[in-house]
Amino acid sequence: MGKERKRRSSRRYGRGESVRTLITGSRIQKKIREMAREIRGDFPEEPLHLVGVLKGAVFFLSDLARQIPGEVSFDFIAVSSYGKETHSSGQVKLTRDLDANIEGKTVIVVEDILDTGLTLQYLLRVFEQRKPKRLRVAVLLDKQERRIAAVRADYVGFTIPNEFVVGYGLDYDERYRNLPHVAVLSLGAGKKEESAQE
Ligand code: IMP
Repeated sequence: MGKERKRRSSRRYGRGESVRTLITGSRIQKKIREMAREIRGDFPEEPLHLVGVLKGAVFFLSDLARQIPGEVSFDFIAVSSYGKETHSSGQVKLTRDLDANIEGKTVIVVEDILDTGLTLQYLLRVFEQRKPKRLRVAVLLDKQERRIAAVRADYVGFTIPNEFVVGYGLDYDERYRNLPHVAVLSLGAGKKEESAQE
């Protein structure tokens, strides 16, 4: 059984890449139900406006939204970093803005993963200027060890170690988003050398 489970939880892909399950789909769904209950418990009467950060948060937002009872609306925003060097200095570019005004709304920013925190720091600055009634943050994954910016999420699904993860919306080079679980990605030996030199 142990061997069988191991065989299923680790899988090789082309290009020398392999993934190892870190959080199963059913654990994710259970956690999302708990997070939804907590969020609604904090704002029992209020319409909630979820803002998902594309593309990584699509599955998290769609599952979370369906678990929160009462009035819920949602919108999406997309950001990209200017490049690796400038990204670490907090330079983030808005590539798709929200459709609707958030002034006076109770806004929950929905992010796939909180890593350095620079993206979230940028987004919170942008949103605060637009005068929402309240601004909260829900993240599925939190890599606390990597934090640079002084930001924190109000609702956290799982705190994870400092490893590169894919699946459930998270990608590597636009791939693996469709995995129903979160997995640690191992690159082939050649790729590791390439990324070490970057
Ligand atoms: P931050 O600005 O460093 O917090 O990074 C946030 C963004 O980086 C996330 O929304 C993801 O798109 C991406 N990211 C950070 N860590 C990972 C990872 O382990 N796997 C995939 N994407 C990641």
